[in-house]
Amino acid sequence: MDRQADITAMRRAVELAARGLGATSPNPVVGCVVTDASGHVVGEGWHQRAGGPHAEVHALRAAGVLARGGTAFVTLEPCNHTGRTGPCAQALIEAGISRVVYAVADPNPQATGGADTLRAAGIEVGQGLLEDEAEAGNLAWLTSVRTGRPFVRWKYAATLDGRIAAADGTSRWISSADSRADVHRLRAEADAVVVGSGTARADDPHLAVRGVEGAVQPLRVVVDTEASAVKPGARVLDDAAPTLIAVAEDADTALPDVVRLPRAAAGGLSVPALLDALHARGVRSVLLEGGPTLAAAFLAAGAVDQVVGYLAPVLLGAGPNALADAGITTLTDALRLHVTDTARVGTDLRITATIQGA
Ligand SMILES: NC(=O)c1ccc[n+]([C@@H]2O[C@H](COP(=O)([O-])OP(=O)(O)OC[C@H]3O[C@@H](n4cnc5c(N)ncnc54)[C@H](OP(=O)(O)O)[C@@H]3O)[C@@H](O)[C@H]2O)c1
Repeated sequence: MDRQADITAMRRAVELAARGLGATSPNPVVGCVVTDASGHVVGEGWHQRAGGPHAEVHALRAAGVLARGGTAFVTLEPCNHTGRTGPCAQALIEAGISRVVYAVADPNPQATGGADTLRAAGIEVGQGLLEDEAEAGNLAWLTSVRTGRPFVRWKYAATLDGRIAAADGTSRWISSADSRADVHRLRAEADAVVVGSGTARADDPHLAVRGVEGAVQPLRVVVDTEASAVKPGARVLDDAAPTLIAVAEDADTALPDVVRLPRAAAGGLSVPALLDALHARGVRSVLLEGGPTLAAAFLAAGAVDQVVGYLAPVLLGAGPNALADAGITTLTDALRLHVTDTARVGTDLRITATIQGA
C-alpha cells in the first residue's frame, strides 16, 4: 500500500466533493476516487444533487470493470440504506472493489453501518485518512446532523475599524469587487441567505447568486417581524431565486411565501424557531448576511457556527459596528474565535473563524 498515493487519491476525493456544495441538501457533499488493482485512477465522482446518484455510483460507473480488485477512496462512510438511491456499500461489493478507504464516519443514524457491511463482505476497510480535511469540506452538513439545525455562517464586510456602514447609513461599497464576487460563491454554497428587516429597508438587497456557473440559487430569507420592510416590488421578491419572508404569527401581510413564527422575548422573531422552520424546508446551511442587529441575536442564541469577515483597508471612525449588542458585558464572556483561514481577496483581508466551543 502506497500511503502517499492514498493521500493523493483522498485529497482528490475531497476536491470533488466540494463541487456539490450548495446543491446536495439535505444530503452531504461526497467525493469518490476509484483506483484499479495497480493503483491507477480509473473513476471519479461526486454527489451532484439530492436524489441523484451518490459519489460512489458515479465513480464506479466511470471505472466499469476496472474497479474489480481496486480501491475506492470516499470522503464519507459509504451509506448502507436505501433512500432515493440504493445503498453504496452494496454497489461497491457488486463492483468487486477489494479495499475501501473513507475519511469521515457517517453520523447519520439512518445511513451508518456501511463499513460493517463492507467488512462482512470481505472487503478491507480503512477509516480516518485526511479526516480533518474531509470534515472541513462537509462542515455544514456534519454540523446540521450534530445540532439538528442548519449550519450558520455569518458573513460581514467591515472597515479596518469595524464599521459596516458610514454614519449617514451609506454602505456601498466597503469591500472590494473581488470580495463581493467571493460572497456570491458563499451564497452559492448555502441553501439559504438570511438578512434582517433593517438591511432590507436600508439596502433593498437582491440576495441571489450572480456570476457563479451552475449555481443552485439559495432560498432568500428576510426576517421581517411586522411585515413592514419588504414591500411589493422589493428586489428580493423577483423570480431570480425563491424567497421566504419570516413574520410574526399576528403580522398583517398579503405577501405570498411567508412563514409565521413566534416572537422572541427580547423582541423580533425567535431565532431557534426560524432555524427549525428552515430545517423543515430542507435547509442545511445558512449564510447570515446581517445586519449587525440580527447577527447579534443569532450569536446570543448560540446559533453561529462560523464567521467570515472581509476587512477592507478603509477607516470610517463613525457608523454602526459589524456586531450590535449581543449581551456580552464583560471580557470573560467574550466570544473567542478560532481562525481557520486567512486570505487576501482583492484589496481586502478575509478571515474565517469558528466560535471556540461551538
Ligand atoms: N457591511 C455589511 O456586511 C453589511 C451587511 C448587512 C447589513 N449592513 C448594513 O447594516 C445596516 C442594517 O443593520 P441593522 O442592524 O439595522 O438591521 P438588521 O440586523 O438587518 O435587521 C434588524 C432587524 O431585524 C428584525 N429582527 C427580527 N427578528 C430579530 C431578532 N430575533 N433579533 C434582532 N432583530 C430581529 C428586527 O426588526 P423587526 O422586528 O421590526 O422586523 C431588527 O430591527 C444597514 O446600514 C446595512 O447597509 C451591512
